[in-house]
Amino acid sequence: MGKKRIGILTSGGDCPGLNAVIRAVVKASQLKGWVVYGIPYGTDGFMDLAKGKYQPQDLVLTGNSYDLPGMLKGLDFLQFLSGSVLGSLSKGHPEEAQNKAAILKGYEMLGLEALIIVGGDGSLDIICDLAQEGNWNIVAIPKTIDNDVPFTESSVGFTTAVEIVTQGLYDLTFTAASHERVMLVQVMGRDAGHLALHAGIAGGADIILIPELTPYLTLDTIQGCCYQLAHIRSSGRQFALVVIAEGVKNQQQQKEKYIGDYLAQQIKEQTKLLCEKKEGVFCDPIDVDLRVTVLGHLQRSHTPVALDRLLATVFGIKAVELIEENRYGRIVIWREGQVHSAPLSSIIKILKQCHHEKRCTYPVDPHGFMVKTARSLGIYLGEGRSLL
Ligand code: F6P
Repeated sequence: MGKKRIGILTSGGDCPGLNAVIRAVVKASQLKGWVVYGIPYGTDGFMDLAKGKYQPQDLVLTGNSYDLPGMLKGLDFLQFLSGSVLGSLSKGHPEEAQNKAAILKGYEMLGLEALIIVGGDGSLDIICDLAQEGNWNIVAIPKTIDNDVPFTESSVGFTTAVEIVTQGLYDLTFTAASHERVMLVQVMGRDAGHLALHAGIAGGADIILIPELTPYLTLDTIQGCCYQLAHIRSSGRQFALVVIAEGVKNQQQQKEKYIGDYLAQQIKEQTKLLCEKKEGVFCDPIDVDLRVTVLGHLQRSHTPVALDRLLATVFGIKAVELIEENRYGRIVIWREGQVHSAPLSSIIKILKQCHHEKRCTYPVDPHGFMVKTARSLGIYLGEGRSLL
Protein backbone atom coordinates (compact mmCIF):
# COMPACT_ATOMS: atom_id res chain seq x y z
CA MET A 1 0.00 0.00 0.00
CA GLY A 2 1.76 3.21 -1.16
CA LYS A 3 1.88 6.55 0.56
CA LYS A 4 -1.05 8.73 -0.31
CA ARG A 5 -1.71 12.44 -0.43
CA ILE A 6 -5.23 13.14 0.67
CA GLY A 7 -7.24 16.26 1.42
CA ILE A 8 -9.96 16.99 3.94
CA LEU A 9 -12.44 19.86 4.05
CA THR A 10 -15.44 20.82 6.14
CA SER A 11 -18.35 22.48 4.40
CA GLY A 12 -21.80 23.83 5.20
CA GLY A 13 -22.94 24.97 8.66
CA ASP A 14 -20.48 23.96 11.36
CA CYS A 15 -21.42 21.62 14.20
CA PRO A 16 -19.77 19.99 17.20
CA GLY A 17 -17.50 17.09 16.23
CA LEU A 18 -15.87 18.42 13.06
CA ASN A 19 -12.49 18.70 14.73
CA ALA A 20 -12.82 15.17 16.06
CA VAL A 21 -13.23 13.96 12.46
CA ILE A 22 -10.17 15.93 11.33
CA ARG A 23 -8.13 14.59 14.23
CA ALA A 24 -9.07 10.98 13.48
CA VAL A 25 -8.26 11.34 9.78
CA VAL A 26 -4.89 12.97 10.50
CA LYS A 27 -3.92 10.44 13.17
CA ALA A 28 -4.84 7.39 11.11
CA SER A 29 -3.17 8.79 7.98
CA GLN A 30 -0.04 9.73 9.86
CA LEU A 31 0.37 6.17 11.08
CA LYS A 32 0.24 5.05 7.45
CA GLY A 33 2.81 7.63 6.43
CA TRP A 34 0.32 9.53 4.29
CA VAL A 35 0.21 13.31 3.87
CA VAL A 36 -3.03 15.09 4.73
CA TYR A 37 -3.84 18.56 3.40
CA GLY A 38 -6.46 20.55 5.29
CA ILE A 39 -8.39 22.69 2.83
CA PRO A 40 -9.44 25.99 4.43
CA TYR A 41 -13.06 27.18 4.12
CA GLY A 42 -14.42 24.34 2.05
CA THR A 43 -13.77 24.43 -1.67
CA ASP A 44 -12.81 28.12 -1.40
CA GLY A 45 -9.47 26.84 -0.09
CA PHE A 46 -8.71 25.28 -3.49
CA MET A 47 -9.58 28.57 -5.17
CA ASP A 48 -7.36 30.55 -2.81
CA LEU A 49 -4.54 28.10 -3.38
CA ALA A 50 -4.82 28.54 -7.12
CA LYS A 51 -4.82 32.32 -6.62
CA GLY A 52 -1.63 32.13 -4.57
CA LYS A 53 -3.08 32.95 -1.14
CA TYR A 54 -1.53 29.74 0.22
CA GLN A 55 1.30 27.46 -0.74
CA PRO A 56 0.61 23.70 -0.68
CA GLN A 57 2.94 23.18 2.29
CA ASP A 58 0.91 25.71 4.34
CA LEU A 59 -1.98 23.25 4.27
CA VAL A 60 -0.23 20.11 5.48
CA LEU A 61 -1.85 18.82 8.67
CA THR A 62 0.22 15.68 9.23
CA GLY A 63 3.25 16.24 11.40
CA ASN A 64 1.80 19.51 12.62
CA SER A 65 0.85 19.83 16.25
CA TYR A 66 -1.46 22.41 17.73
CA ASP A 67 0.66 22.66 20.81
CA LEU A 68 -0.22 24.18 24.17
CA PRO A 69 2.29 25.72 26.56
CA GLY A 70 3.56 24.47 29.92
CA MET A 71 2.26 21.32 31.49
CA LEU A 72 -0.37 20.94 28.78
CA LYS A 73 2.28 20.58 26.09
CA GLY A 74 1.47 17.63 23.90
CA LEU A 75 -2.19 17.45 24.93
CA ASP A 76 -4.16 16.13 21.99
CA PHE A 77 -7.14 18.43 22.47
CA LEU A 78 -8.63 18.74 19.00
CA GLN A 79 -11.52 16.35 19.56
CA PHE A 80 -12.77 18.42 22.48
CA LEU A 81 -13.20 21.59 20.45
CA SER A 82 -16.30 22.71 18.61
CA GLY A 83 -16.21 24.57 15.28
CA SER A 84 -13.73 23.56 12.59
CA VAL A 85 -10.02 24.35 12.58
CA LEU A 86 -10.32 24.37 8.80
CA GLY A 87 -13.20 26.84 8.74
CA SER A 88 -16.35 26.07 6.83
CA LEU A 89 -18.26 27.42 3.88
CA SER A 90 -22.01 28.00 3.68
CA LYS A 91 -22.78 29.09 0.17
CA GLY A 92 -24.18 27.62 -3.02
CA HIS A 93 -22.52 26.54 -6.25
CA PRO A 94 -19.60 28.74 -7.38
CA GLU A 95 -21.41 31.15 -9.67
CA GLU A 96 -18.56 32.49 -11.74
CA ALA A 97 -16.95 30.10 -14.18
CA GLN A 98 -13.50 31.43 -13.30
CA ASN A 99 -14.00 30.57 -9.64
CA LYS A 100 -15.02 27.06 -10.52
CA ALA A 101 -11.98 26.73 -12.77
CA ALA A 102 -9.76 27.99 -9.92
CA ILE A 103 -11.23 25.40 -7.52
CA LEU A 104 -10.49 22.62 -9.98
CA LYS A 105 -6.99 23.99 -10.55
CA GLY A 106 -6.31 24.19 -6.80
CA TYR A 107 -7.25 20.54 -6.41
CA GLU A 108 -4.86 19.61 -9.24
CA MET A 109 -2.05 21.64 -7.66
CA LEU A 110 -2.10 19.43 -4.56
CA GLY A 111 -1.92 16.22 -6.59
CA LEU A 112 -4.47 14.62 -4.29
CA GLU A 113 -5.41 11.00 -4.63
CA ALA A 114 -8.55 11.47 -2.60
CA LEU A 115 -10.56 14.09 -0.79
CA ILE A 116 -12.63 13.63 2.35
CA ILE A 117 -15.66 15.91 2.44
CA VAL A 118 -17.31 16.49 5.78
CA GLY A 119 -20.65 17.99 4.85
CA GLY A 120 -24.41 18.12 5.21
CA ASP A 121 -27.13 17.68 2.60
CA GLY A 122 -26.48 21.02 0.85
CA SER A 123 -22.70 20.94 0.72
CA LEU A 124 -22.54 17.27 -0.32
CA ASP A 125 -24.80 18.00 -3.26
CA ILE A 126 -22.66 20.95 -4.40
CA ILE A 127 -19.24 19.36 -3.89
CA CYS A 128 -20.27 16.16 -5.64
CA ASP A 129 -21.00 18.20 -8.76
CA LEU A 130 -17.51 19.72 -8.60
CA ALA A 131 -16.00 16.31 -7.92
CA GLN A 132 -17.62 14.93 -11.02
CA GLU A 133 -16.27 17.76 -13.16
CA GLY A 134 -12.79 17.47 -11.69
CA ASN A 135 -12.80 13.68 -11.63
CA TRP A 136 -11.98 13.78 -7.91
CA ASN A 137 -11.88 10.66 -5.77
CA ILE A 138 -14.11 11.50 -2.86
CA VAL A 139 -15.31 9.97 0.37
CA ALA A 140 -18.00 11.81 2.31
CA ILE A 141 -18.71 12.03 6.03
CA PRO A 142 -22.18 13.26 7.07
CA LYS A 143 -22.40 16.07 9.61
CA THR A 144 -25.37 18.17 10.58
CA ILE A 145 -27.33 19.05 13.68
CA ASP A 146 -30.46 18.60 11.53
CA ASN A 147 -29.72 14.86 11.12
CA ASP A 148 -31.29 14.92 7.69
CA VAL A 149 -28.71 13.07 5.58
CA PRO A 150 -30.38 9.98 4.09
CA PHE A 151 -29.23 6.44 4.95
CA THR A 152 -27.41 7.34 8.16
CA GLU A 153 -29.19 7.09 11.49
CA SER A 154 -26.89 9.72 12.93
CA SER A 155 -24.74 12.51 11.54
CA VAL A 156 -21.86 14.17 13.37
CA GLY A 157 -23.13 17.00 15.59
CA PHE A 158 -26.69 15.82 16.06
CA THR A 159 -26.28 14.20 19.48
CA THR A 160 -24.55 17.26 20.93
CA ALA A 161 -27.28 19.54 19.57
CA VAL A 162 -29.91 17.28 21.19
CA GLU A 163 -27.98 17.63 24.44
CA ILE A 164 -27.86 21.44 24.18
CA VAL A 165 -31.59 21.78 23.49
CA THR A 166 -32.44 19.26 26.21
CA GLN A 167 -30.32 21.21 28.67
CA GLY A 168 -31.99 24.43 27.55
CA LEU A 169 -35.41 22.94 28.25
CA TYR A 170 -34.27 21.72 31.65
CA ASP A 171 -32.91 25.16 32.55
CA LEU A 172 -36.08 26.90 31.39
CA THR A 173 -38.26 24.58 33.47
CA PHE A 174 -37.33 26.29 36.72
CA THR A 175 -37.94 29.84 35.64
CA ALA A 176 -41.15 28.64 33.99
CA ALA A 177 -42.26 27.06 37.25
CA SER A 178 -41.30 30.08 39.35
CA HIS A 179 -43.40 32.41 37.22
CA GLU A 180 -46.17 30.01 36.20
CA ARG A 181 -45.21 30.52 32.60
CA VAL A 182 -45.35 28.64 29.35
CA MET A 183 -41.87 28.54 27.82
CA LEU A 184 -41.88 28.19 24.07
CA VAL A 185 -38.59 27.15 22.51
CA GLN A 186 -37.80 27.48 18.80
CA VAL A 187 -35.37 24.81 17.69
CA MET A 188 -33.20 24.55 14.55
CA GLY A 189 -33.43 21.74 12.03
CA ARG A 190 -34.25 23.56 8.80
CA ASP A 191 -36.99 21.37 7.25
CA ALA A 192 -36.48 18.44 9.60
CA GLY A 193 -37.90 17.80 13.06
CA HIS A 194 -35.37 15.27 14.44
CA LEU A 195 -33.69 17.75 16.78
CA ALA A 196 -36.97 19.18 18.12
CA LEU A 197 -38.50 15.73 18.58
CA HIS A 198 -35.53 14.09 20.30
CA ALA A 199 -34.78 17.03 22.57
CA GLY A 200 -38.46 17.69 23.23
CA ILE A 201 -38.93 14.16 24.54
CA ALA A 202 -35.69 14.19 26.54
CA GLY A 203 -36.38 17.66 27.91
CA GLY A 204 -39.92 16.95 29.07
CA ALA A 205 -41.86 19.10 26.58
CA ASP A 206 -45.66 19.11 26.72
CA ILE A 207 -46.08 20.09 23.09
CA ILE A 208 -43.70 19.36 20.19
CA LEU A 209 -44.44 20.71 16.74
CA ILE A 210 -42.34 19.40 13.86
CA PRO A 211 -42.79 19.95 10.11
CA GLU A 212 -43.29 16.25 9.38
CA LEU A 213 -46.48 16.21 11.48
CA THR A 214 -47.39 19.89 11.44
CA PRO A 215 -46.20 21.29 8.11
CA TYR A 216 -48.00 24.52 8.98
CA LEU A 217 -50.00 25.85 11.91
CA THR A 218 -53.70 25.27 11.33
CA LEU A 219 -56.37 26.70 13.60
CA ASP A 220 -56.97 23.17 14.88
CA THR A 221 -53.32 22.82 15.86
CA ILE A 222 -53.23 26.19 17.60
CA GLN A 223 -56.41 25.40 19.47
CA GLY A 224 -54.99 21.95 20.25
CA CYS A 225 -52.05 23.69 21.92
CA CYS A 226 -54.49 25.83 23.95
CA TYR A 227 -56.40 22.77 25.09
CA GLN A 228 -53.21 20.94 26.02
CA LEU A 229 -52.00 23.90 28.09
CA ALA A 230 -55.41 24.32 29.71
CA HIS A 231 -55.48 20.65 30.59
CA ILE A 232 -52.04 20.87 32.22
CA ARG A 233 -53.24 23.77 34.33
CA SER A 234 -56.45 22.09 35.35
CA SER A 235 -54.42 19.04 36.42
CA GLY A 236 -52.55 21.29 38.86
CA ARG A 237 -49.31 22.19 37.07
CA GLN A 238 -48.94 25.89 36.40
CA PHE A 239 -46.09 25.84 33.88
CA ALA A 240 -45.41 24.11 30.60
CA LEU A 241 -42.80 23.64 27.86
CA VAL A 242 -43.52 23.93 24.16
CA VAL A 243 -41.00 23.05 21.44
CA ILE A 244 -41.46 24.20 17.88
CA ALA A 245 -39.09 23.28 15.05
CA GLU A 246 -38.09 26.19 12.82
CA GLY A 247 -39.37 24.30 9.75
CA VAL A 248 -43.02 24.58 10.80
CA LYS A 249 -44.77 27.24 8.69
CA ASN A 250 -47.37 29.83 9.66
CA GLN A 251 -51.11 29.62 8.94
CA GLN A 252 -50.55 31.01 5.45
CA GLN A 253 -48.05 28.19 4.87
CA GLN A 254 -45.16 30.64 4.78
CA LYS A 255 -41.83 30.28 6.57
CA GLU A 256 -41.36 32.62 9.53
CA LYS A 257 -37.94 33.55 10.87
CA TYR A 258 -39.47 33.58 14.34
CA ILE A 259 -42.16 30.93 14.18
CA GLY A 260 -41.98 30.64 17.98
CA ASP A 261 -43.14 34.25 18.41
CA TYR A 262 -45.86 33.68 15.85
CA LEU A 263 -47.15 30.61 17.68
CA ALA A 264 -47.04 32.38 21.05
CA GLN A 265 -49.16 35.19 19.66
CA GLN A 266 -51.66 32.75 18.15
CA ILE A 267 -51.91 30.73 21.36
CA LYS A 268 -52.60 33.91 23.33
CA GLU A 269 -55.34 35.01 20.93
CA GLN A 270 -56.99 31.62 20.67
CA THR A 271 -56.84 31.00 24.42
CA LYS A 272 -58.69 34.24 24.94
CA LEU A 273 -61.34 33.31 22.40
CA LEU A 274 -61.72 29.79 23.76
CA CYS A 275 -61.96 31.04 27.29
CA GLU A 276 -64.71 33.44 26.34
CA LYS A 277 -66.62 30.63 24.65
CA LYS A 278 -66.05 28.07 27.39
CA GLU A 279 -66.66 30.61 30.16
CA GLY A 280 -63.36 29.86 31.79
CA VAL A 281 -63.89 26.13 32.12
CA PHE A 282 -60.65 25.29 30.33
CA CYS A 283 -58.51 28.29 31.16
CA ASP A 284 -58.28 31.69 32.66
CA PRO A 285 -58.03 34.30 29.90
CA ILE A 286 -55.60 36.58 31.70
CA ASP A 287 -53.25 33.88 32.79
CA VAL A 288 -51.49 32.47 29.74
CA ASP A 289 -48.10 33.99 30.21
CA LEU A 290 -45.88 32.85 27.35
CA ARG A 291 -42.19 33.53 26.80
CA VAL A 292 -40.26 32.60 23.70
CA THR A 293 -36.62 31.46 23.52
CA VAL A 294 -34.81 31.04 20.22
CA LEU A 295 -31.77 28.88 20.94
CA GLY A 296 -30.23 29.74 17.57
CA HIS A 297 -26.58 29.04 16.92
CA LEU A 298 -25.96 27.90 20.47
CA GLN A 299 -27.18 24.60 19.06
CA ARG A 300 -24.17 24.42 16.79
CA SER A 301 -21.41 25.32 19.17
CA HIS A 302 -20.67 23.29 22.26
CA THR A 303 -18.03 20.82 23.33
CA PRO A 304 -19.01 17.69 21.42
CA VAL A 305 -20.53 15.08 23.72
CA ALA A 306 -18.78 11.71 24.00
CA LEU A 307 -21.09 9.98 21.50
CA ASP A 308 -20.42 12.66 18.89
CA ARG A 309 -16.68 12.39 19.43
CA LEU A 310 -16.97 8.65 19.00
CA LEU A 311 -19.11 8.90 15.88
CA ALA A 312 -16.79 11.51 14.40
CA THR A 313 -13.76 9.38 15.17
CA VAL A 314 -15.26 6.17 13.82
CA PHE A 315 -16.39 7.99 10.67
CA GLY A 316 -12.93 9.52 10.18
CA ILE A 317 -11.20 6.16 10.54
CA LYS A 318 -13.70 4.50 8.20
CA ALA A 319 -13.11 7.19 5.57
CA VAL A 320 -9.35 6.56 5.71
CA GLU A 321 -9.99 2.82 5.44
CA LEU A 322 -12.12 3.34 2.32
CA ILE A 323 -9.36 5.42 0.75
CA GLU A 324 -6.80 2.76 1.58
CA GLU A 325 -8.99 0.24 -0.26
CA ASN A 326 -9.40 2.68 -3.17
CA ARG A 327 -13.17 2.61 -2.61
CA TYR A 328 -14.17 6.07 -3.73
CA GLY A 329 -17.51 7.76 -4.34
CA ARG A 330 -18.82 6.52 -1.00
CA ILE A 331 -20.32 8.04 2.13
CA VAL A 332 -19.78 6.59 5.57
CA ILE A 333 -22.98 5.95 7.50
CA TRP A 334 -24.12 4.73 10.89
CA ARG A 335 -26.71 2.00 10.93
CA GLU A 336 -27.83 -0.46 13.61
CA GLY A 337 -24.86 0.21 15.84
CA GLN A 338 -22.28 -0.22 13.09
CA VAL A 339 -20.32 1.95 10.72
CA HIS A 340 -20.93 1.16 7.06
CA SER A 341 -20.55 2.93 3.76
CA ALA A 342 -22.99 3.51 0.93
CA PRO A 343 -22.60 4.70 -2.65
CA LEU A 344 -22.61 8.48 -2.62
CA SER A 345 -24.51 8.50 -5.91
CA SER A 346 -27.63 6.98 -4.36
CA ILE A 347 -27.70 9.62 -1.62
CA ILE A 348 -26.99 12.46 -4.03
CA LYS A 349 -29.91 11.34 -6.16
CA ILE A 350 -32.25 11.68 -3.17
CA LEU A 351 -30.73 15.01 -2.14
CA LYS A 352 -31.12 16.51 -5.61
CA GLN A 353 -34.69 15.32 -5.96
CA CYS A 354 -35.62 16.70 -2.51
CA HIS A 355 -33.84 20.00 -3.09
CA HIS A 356 -35.63 20.32 -6.41
CA GLU A 357 -39.01 19.65 -4.79
CA LYS A 358 -38.07 21.80 -1.76
CA ARG A 359 -38.76 19.05 0.72
CA CYS A 360 -36.86 17.55 3.59
CA THR A 361 -34.02 15.22 2.59
CA TYR A 362 -34.55 12.77 5.45
CA PRO A 363 -37.68 13.54 7.46
CA VAL A 364 -38.79 12.11 10.78
CA ASP A 365 -40.80 8.95 10.19
CA PRO A 366 -44.35 9.82 11.30
CA HIS A 367 -44.88 6.13 12.13
CA GLY A 368 -41.48 5.67 13.76
CA PHE A 369 -40.81 4.81 17.38
CA MET A 370 -39.84 8.34 18.39
CA VAL A 371 -43.19 9.75 17.34
CA LYS A 372 -44.94 6.81 19.04
CA THR A 373 -42.93 7.45 22.19
CA ALA A 374 -43.94 11.11 22.28
CA ARG A 375 -47.59 10.25 21.71
CA SER A 376 -47.53 7.58 24.40
CA LEU A 377 -46.25 10.15 26.86
CA GLY A 378 -49.25 12.38 26.13
CA ILE A 379 -47.14 15.00 24.36
CA TYR A 380 -49.29 16.99 21.96
CA LEU A 381 -47.83 16.73 18.46
CA GLY A 382 -50.14 19.15 16.71
CA GLU A 383 -52.44 16.57 15.22
CA GLY A 384 -56.12 17.35 15.50
CA ARG A 385 -57.76 19.23 18.31
CA SER A 386 -56.26 17.73 21.42
CA LEU A 387 -54.92 14.49 22.76
CA LEU A 388 -56.01 14.86 26.33
O1 F6P B 1 -28.29 23.06 8.62
C1 F6P B 1 -27.84 23.42 9.88
C2 F6P B 1 -28.50 24.68 10.35
O2 F6P B 1 -27.99 25.00 11.63
C3 F6P B 1 -30.02 24.65 10.36
O3 F6P B 1 -30.53 23.95 11.45
C4 F6P B 1 -30.33 26.12 10.35
O4 F6P B 1 -31.58 26.38 9.77
C5 F6P B 1 -29.23 26.68 9.47
O5 F6P B 1 -28.18 25.76 9.50
C6 F6P B 1 -28.73 28.03 9.90
O6 F6P B 1 -27.81 28.45 8.96
P1 F6P B 1 -26.91 29.76 9.12
O7 F6P B 1 -25.74 29.37 9.97
O8 F6P B 1 -26.53 30.07 7.74
O9 F6P B 1 -27.75 30.80 9.79
